[in-house]
Amino acid sequence: MMGYGERFRIALFGSSHGPEVGVEIQGIPAGTPIDLARIQAALDRRRPVGRRLATRRAEEDRLVVDRGVDHGVSDGGSFRAHVANEDVRREPYDRMQDTPRPGHADFPARMRYGPDTDLSGGGIFSGRMTVGLVIAGTVARSLLDPLGVDLLGYTREIGPIDAAVPEGDLATLRARAAQNEVGCPDPDAASRMEAAIAAARREGDSLGGVVEVRIEGVPIGVGEPFFDSVESAIAHLAFSVPAVKAIEFGAGFRAARMRGSQHNDPFIWAGDRVRTETNHAGGILGGLATGMPIVYRVAVKPTSSIARPQRTVHLTTHEPATLVVTGRHDPCIVPRAVVVLESVAAIAIADLALRGGFVR
Ligand SMILES: Cc1cc2nc3c(=O)[nH]c(=O)nc-3n(C[C@H](O)[C@H](O)[C@H](O)COP(=O)(O)O)c2cc1C
Repeated sequence: MMGYGERFRIALFGSSHGPEVGVEIQGIPAGTPIDLARIQAALDRRRPVGRRLATRRAEEDRLVVDRGVDHGVSDGGSFRAHVANEDVRREPYDRMQDTPRPGHADFPARMRYGPDTDLSGGGIFSGRMTVGLVIAGTVARSLLDPLGVDLLGYTREIGPIDAAVPEGDLATLRARAAQNEVGCPDPDAASRMEAAIAAARREGDSLGGVVEVRIEGVPIGVGEPFFDSVESAIAHLAFSVPAVKAIEFGAGFRAARMRGSQHNDPFIWAGDRVRTETNHAGGILGGLATGMPIVYRVAVKPTSSIARPQRTVHLTTHEPATLVVTGRHDPCIVPRAVVVLESVAAIAIADLALRGGFVR
């Protein structure tokens, strides 16, 4: 079972080209609002359809709740929801079983599980499995709403193009990021990113990028010391998302080049509460939330499936082979990963908030 969590426990089910993908959640306190329209809206942000730049796999992704909701709230039992896989074309993948696709899980999965493994569409390794994360993340948000937690992800980089450092509150950034196809709050960078993705597509290639997520309103002290620190929980879930290769919090890798006098965030009295003047710590000290925004960035690798011929090897004859990946693929999955990375943050914080007794 592919699962995560101690108190807010999720398990993903399904596979890319099976009948459905979804999630089962245990530990949702009875009475937590389960807003189906909100979940559907989140799923729509993950869908490629309607995005000019993305894969042409056409799927409705209509939410179906199987159990756990009674009159709009959690019944306290296990919640289960899924979406159907409608646009499944197995044929392009069947031919590839003996020649692993570079950049995909095919090779190690086939070695571990044998030749009968269903790797159609990436099988259980597919980005499609993130449907379940988005459903669970939206339920987690409902649980966090009463605490005043809000979170937002947006695109910071695509290929070589950097967005300006985002300024403004979450509502402003949310509105700006919703105005373009790449989910970037900097409109100038967004149009250059869109052009770069279109160019990569024309060249039969793909691009990666950086997603930043900001979480505000997390109660001071959320997080478990040491192994289940806020960083550990978020990183655990972020690395579960296919194509994520790196993560940093606050100043992140830049911290290595700073001095203590620069990196330490001075404490100040803000009239009604203690805050810090800067936030190089990314809202986390000793694994616990400081009350400052929790900020993390994730590197998403360039889409593995590219239209160009690629070199591989035939696993039984050991002959070199040239592979042309057919099927439909995004030249850049970064814009679709944004809502997924928001969702995993919500799941991590909800689980820690329950563990710490911040939610009852
Ligand atoms: C939302 C989402 C959509 C994805 N769509 C694709 C895709 O269309 N084509 C592709 O090659 N990879 C896609 N991926 C990434 C692959 O699933 C992933 O790179 C591959 O399974 C290997 O896993 P790894 O990169 O984590 O090692 C997607 C990832 C996410 C998060």
